[in-house]
Amino acid sequence: MSVFRAFCLRSRNGILTHIQSQPSRIKVLQPLFYKLRNDVHFKHLAGSTSTIPQKAPKKTPSPYDSMIRKKRDEAERSILVQVQSAMSHPELYSYISQFASVEQMYHYSFSDDMQFIVVELSSAEDVERILDASGHLSQGDLIPVRSPLLWFRAKGGGNSLKSKSKKKSKNIENAENLPPLKCGCITLSEGDIMKSVSSCSSFSEQVQVLYKLSCLDELGSRIRFLTARQLELALQGIFPNAKAIPFGSSVNGFGRVGCDLDLSLHLDSCESEEEDGNPTSLRLIFQTKMIPFNGRAQMQRQMEAVGDILQLFLPGCTHVRRILQARVPIVKYHQDFTSLECDVTMSNQTAVFMSELLWIMGSLDARVRPLVFTVRHWAKAVRLTSATPGPFITNFTLTLLVLHYLQCCKPHPVLPSLTTLISMAAPGDRRVSDDGVNCTFLRDISRVKPSENTESLHALLFGFFQFYASFNFEGRGLSLAKGHGDNSGVGIVKPDASPLYVENPLERMLNVSKNVNGQELERLRIEMRSAAWLMEEMLALSDDEAQEVHSTRTSHSALKSASDGALSWGLMDLLSPSNAKVKDNRLSVGTAMKINAKGRLVRVTDLFEDTERDDSRASHSVTRGAHKGRKR
Ligand code: CTP
Ligand code: MG
Repeated sequence: MSVFRAFCLRSRNGILTHIQSQPSRIKVLQPLFYKLRNDVHFKHLAGSTSTIPQKAPKKTPSPYDSMIRKKRDEAERSILVQVQSAMSHPELYSYISQFASVEQMYHYSFSDDMQFIVVELSSAEDVERILDASGHLSQGDLIPVRSPLLWFRAKGGGNSLKSKSKKKSKNIENAENLPPLKCGCITLSEGDIMKSVSSCSSFSEQVQVLYKLSCLDELGSRIRFLTARQLELALQGIFPNAKAIPFGSSVNGFGRVGCDLDLSLHLDSCESEEEDGNPTSLRLIFQTKMIPFNGRAQMQRQMEAVGDILQLFLPGCTHVRRILQARVPIVKYHQDFTSLECDVTMSNQTAVFMSELLWIMGSLDARVRPLVFTVRHWAKAVRLTSATPGPFITNFTLTLLVLHYLQCCKPHPVLPSLTTLISMAAPGDRRVSDDGVNCTFLRDISRVKPSENTESLHALLFGFFQFYASFNFEGRGLSLAKGHGDNSGVGIVKPDASPLYVENPLERMLNVSKNVNGQELERLRIEMRSAAWLMEEMLALSDDEAQEVHSTRTSHSALKSASDGALSWGLMDLLSPSNAKVKDNRLSVGTAMKINAKGRLVRVTDLFEDTERDDSRASHSVTRGAHKGRKR
């Protein structure tokens, strides 16, 4: 297998790459990677050739690394305590203050009896002191796990929280320096968001407000890192350096309140060797078991064991599912105390670097994240994305679609191509994942010149729908590496017959949208066109006019807005499921197919000129007709 793998890794004109079907994430392969890393000419997929030096330059910590380190550090200094209600805050503070120094407290709940306070302490030692002062119920049928997930029993309720300190509990009145109880939300109220969106004065403001209200907040981020901490602590008895690293939308800046938690589990790392740059400097080496020849089977067994630990021992972890035959074996579970759906993979370092790349793209321009959020929200509303796996476009692919469009904006792109970011990389930016994928790109975003593109969010969103409504998906694929690229046209020549081809930015021989079938692509195209038409009409109106038109419509139409009494206008028309339904009825696949994909978008008013009906379900065409008439 090693020979085959080495061959594959060296294939494709020397491109060091990752072979999907191989057990690529198994550590037994690492010596091979070290050899490859040190020997071969390492060709950036963007084209420039470089050699991985014998002595790797010291990694420059990136702003992303610093962000992750800060959050991991907060989690190491935090405990999660189930309480009776937010009112328990002073009493809990007072009790904990006997043993430890409290920095911050956050409250959340998802039902009357599921109320929690995250307590951030001054140090990891403080956490240890609290855990030393905690105990188990004396019943014999409990698994006696020690973890920072606790509950605060009512005073006099027995000895589960037993003080090893002789000090008496301070009175609540004496609770000096009581930090204010911060609150966050772990579930979204669509109605509240839409009310706020409705009261905005412009479309672009609506996009901003949607983003601000639905993005992951401080609490959402803290509970994710605490959930990761629970798993890594459970494994640290055998693997003291075990890390459960969040990746995906929890950390890449595109996470929505309630998004899942993707975790990459690293049982141990060779970082000490790598950072040192001299593998021979260590004299004492741990005795270890070799991973047997069939590494993939072994990894599946390991993942199975992780699933068992979650299922058998860890409090709050329920609904454990092992999907071990997948390309990347995965264990899914639900953490009931943080209400998070978690996906655990093993040593998924390339995906971790992918999250960093997306985070960097999102940090380069303030318009990127609001746009991605809006497109993801829209795709959910028109049912292009689905919570269940299948041939549907995923949020990750949609994000790449938006980033690619922003690279292609004319005359000035909003984002640089990945090739540009690679060419600007400093020696300290060099990164190679466990499985040998080159993840080198610029980390210091202050070195990227701000974009000269000054388009509004409104115009950019319209541009996005227009761009893909007329994109030649039959012949072309999308590449973030290329961006707007050379003169060979938009996108890249599609390397295979997949209906939708979106190149994985870090593993360029992979198509991240391989799952999307022809039917789903067609639906995507139809919805893009439909959205572009709707927005074209909106752009023809001033924001005041748009509000007025929609006010008239809602006042005498059966079409109710998404939130009670809130005026549905602008962005809400794109996002409202009821409007999506109207669009479904209005635009059949057949109609859409008649439209030339490559030509200019047909004006919706031309299509619906004679379609005014006294039918509230045809609200868009009625509105447009009315508006047209009013203008004339
Ligand atoms: N990923 C990847 N290649 C893929 C799919 C996913 O590298 N073909 C990585 C990306 O970093 C992605 C992460 O795995 O962000 C998690 O995937 P997923 O949970 O599907 O997407 P999210 O971005 O987390 O979005 P969501 O909010 O829908 O979970
Ligand atoms: Mg995710």
